[in-house]
Amino acid sequence: MGDLRMSESFSVKSNIRDSYQVQFVGNLQVQLEILGGQKNVIFIIDQNVYELFLQELKIIENSRLVLIDPSEKFKTIDYSQEIIRKLINTDVRKDDILVAIGGGITQDVVAFISSILFRGVEWRFFPTTLLAQCDSCIGSKSSINFEQFKNLLGTFNPPSHIFIYSGFLTTLSESEIRSGIGEMLHYFFTKGIDLAQDIADSFDKLLDERSLLKPFISESLRIKKEIIEIDEFDTSIRHIFNYGHTFGHAIETITDYKIPHGQAISIGMDLANYISLNKGMITNVQFDEMHSILKKNIPPFKLTNENIDQYLHALSKDKKNKGGLLGCILTYGAGKVEKIFLNMDDNLRSLMLSYSDSYSVK
Ligand SMILES: NC(=O)c1ccc[n+]([C@@H]2O[C@H](COP(=O)([O-])OP(=O)(O)OC[C@H]3O[C@@H](n4cnc5c(N)ncnc54)[C@H](O)[C@@H]3O)[C@@H](O)[C@H]2O)c1
Repeated sequence: MGDLRMSESFSVKSNIRDSYQVQFVGNLQVQLEILGGQKNVIFIIDQNVYELFLQELKIIENSRLVLIDPSEKFKTIDYSQEIIRKLINTDVRKDDILVAIGGGITQDVVAFISSILFRGVEWRFFPTTLLAQCDSCIGSKSSINFEQFKNLLGTFNPPSHIFIYSGFLTTLSESEIRSGIGEMLHYFFTKGIDLAQDIADSFDKLLDERSLLKPFISESLRIKKEIIEIDEFDTSIRHIFNYGHTFGHAIETITDYKIPHGQAISIGMDLANYISLNKGMITNVQFDEMHSILKKNIPPFKLTNENIDQYLHALSKDKKNKGGLLGCILTYGAGKVEKIFLNMDDNLRSLMLSYSDSYSVK
């Protein structure tokens, strides 16, 4: 596999706090004891994770514990207020530290709360899903849904410390692992083919032996760190990480989020590559090489005459669009992605249908 340069601990530079620390931890209980013994810490934990890891988490006192329902419909201001009420009942103070344990939903809610409560309290994070460990835990964003709009509200507020414990991965469903793999593939493809090929070569083993994912998590964070340290607030170069996301988000929208995020992104990258092929930006050989990797993580989904209008409508709402043009990331080959604006015309429509006819999984 590729060159693994990330050590067990590294820091990420930030404009919000000078830097924050990411640490791979081998023993969860020891880490919790160190934290609990330090200062006034209040734990906010995904209720499913709390039940699954009760043995390890039972050292947390009930009076310092708030459980969270990790459902997309609760990633709201109303639910954040409910959690704030519970925190007030625990007698939270400005110099307390909130410790979040959970996936991206728990992260988003706690990051949001900690940026508004007392105009800012420190928070730390134990990501428990592959997606949160390899991607969302760094990058500073918090996102809250508003009415029908996903991730419409939010702040930039990184945790002061991130603890990655690979034991959390053992209880994830295969679909959650595939979702995280989709995000990792998208980071890897912005750098080249090697790491993505390594994932494909050991794909089935990675689904079974989750500890083998650790070096890939580390590489994924390394690639993200390089860019967010330059463009934390997502105003320029960070847009390359929208690769696969424009086309993927629209798939999530029209399937009502039944396809897990990272798997939708895998289809999104394949579709972006197909459009790149059609525009002469890559060769058939390059497309086939990337497709043979991506297809391992592509779930059943087909664009047809029945759903293509709904799909184009969802694409037309993408916030990267300019005028009537679709803003998306295409590729000049693995490691060379670029933002391109496309006409949303009949040509694009037939290209998408022809992609689905040739490459969709039944
Ligand atoms: N802020 C960001 O930068 C950012 C980036 C990407 C995604 N997100 C957000 O993250 C959310 C998705 O997050 P996610 O995919 O990490 O998961 P999640 O938080 O939505 O959790 C998914 C399910 O997995 C369960 N779960 C969590 N950890 C588990 C474990 N170790 N074992 C078994 N089950 C476990 C949860 O209880 C839940 O049922 C979306 O709302 C998305 O918008 C935020």
